[in-house]
Amino acid sequence: MPSRSLHIGSLAFDVPAIQGALSGFSDLPMRRVARAFGCVYAMNEVVLDELVVLPGKLQQEILHVKDDDHPVAGQLLGSTPETFAAAAALLVGAGYDVVDVNMGCPVKKVLGRSRGGFLLSEPSTALEIVARVRDAVRAEVPVTVKMRRGVDDGPLAEEMFWEILEGVFARGVAAVCVHGRTVAQRYIGPSKRSFLTEVKKRFPERVILGSGDLFVAADVKALLHETGVDGAWIARGAIGAPWIFSEVRHLLETGSLPPPPSFDEQRRAVWLHYRECTALYGRELGSRLFRKVAIKYAEAHPAADDVLHACYEARLPRDVDVVLSRFYDESFAEEHFGPVVRKIGPGNLVAAGACASG
Ligand SMILES: Cc1cc2nc3c(=O)[nH]c(=O)nc-3n(C[C@H](O)[C@H](O)[C@H](O)COP(=O)(O)O)c2cc1C
Repeated sequence: MPSRSLHIGSLAFDVPAIQGALSGFSDLPMRRVARAFGCVYAMNEVVLDELVVLPGKLQQEILHVKDDDHPVAGQLLGSTPETFAAAAALLVGAGYDVVDVNMGCPVKKVLGRSRGGFLLSEPSTALEIVARVRDAVRAEVPVTVKMRRGVDDGPLAEEMFWEILEGVFARGVAAVCVHGRTVAQRYIGPSKRSFLTEVKKRFPERVILGSGDLFVAADVKALLHETGVDGAWIARGAIGAPWIFSEVRHLLETGSLPPPPSFDEQRRAVWLHYRECTALYGRELGSRLFRKVAIKYAEAHPAADDVLHACYEARLPRDVDVVLSRFYDESFAEEHFGPVVRKIGPGNLVAAGACASG
């Protein structure tokens, strides 16, 4: 039976599943919706260290951590230890609870600039970055690392993986997340779960999170059971499905799966996400960004095909409004399921938008 708690440095969580970093998705709206559905710890999208240190509007946005957005991790991408360290210090000063070092991004342009997954091919630079980041945050917050299982499937890549893993822990890293794909693999083929088992076997005393192909709560339970890792880094499985966090808790605590999200829960998630997006980005951009996740939310909708079609057709903000009022309105629910029953109690959102403050 996997442990039901997770510790990352001084942070303790009563369920071993987190919202992992997702570029283009794990922004404030997604994190708020995830938290409203029981997520205990959420990560921001990766940010370039150079942008964090560059004074300007973007820097201000990155360094503006909202009071209700905790605990939150800031994840850095870069190639030079000095810039990484300066950016890490700024993140801590701004209120991020954890600084995470990205050593996994497989995007060609990122690799070409010696960032992300490229660091897995340069253990000395990778370890210098971690050492400098640790110095810069002066033990004020935990430092964590995100890795893939190597740059490729070759023996040298694996050797470098173990060297880096051992080295980052020796330099005081609180936890490491391992994604069971190689950098060369990108997203082709499955994540290798047996590799995560091997990681935990070699580092039984260290905090290891596992990532890869965690799409539903049962995947999380299987990962924890099969590999022995300490926690699950949920990524694509949370896009348009924030209930995965409460489902994981339910599954680990009771051994059984809860019923699928009710239509009322879907409505609350969708409207909250929409309001958060438009409040943060404005109606034009907010609607456009929301449409991207609406497509994922549609999958759980009782009229999924129709909603998907309407989402793909939606071009303007008012088209998105029409999708929402047509498919996520109480009248739709009442027409199809009878009167909407609101659950009121701890952990439940009483009304969509309840977390939209601050
Ligand atoms: C669109 C997208 C954006 C991602 N952005 C990040 C990121 O910013 N930082 C990071 O460490 N990993 C990022 N990842 C990797 C995921 O966090 C995760 O490790 C990977 O998708 C494997 O998990 P999954 O198969 O359960 O999605 C991203 C993945 C996707 C698909």
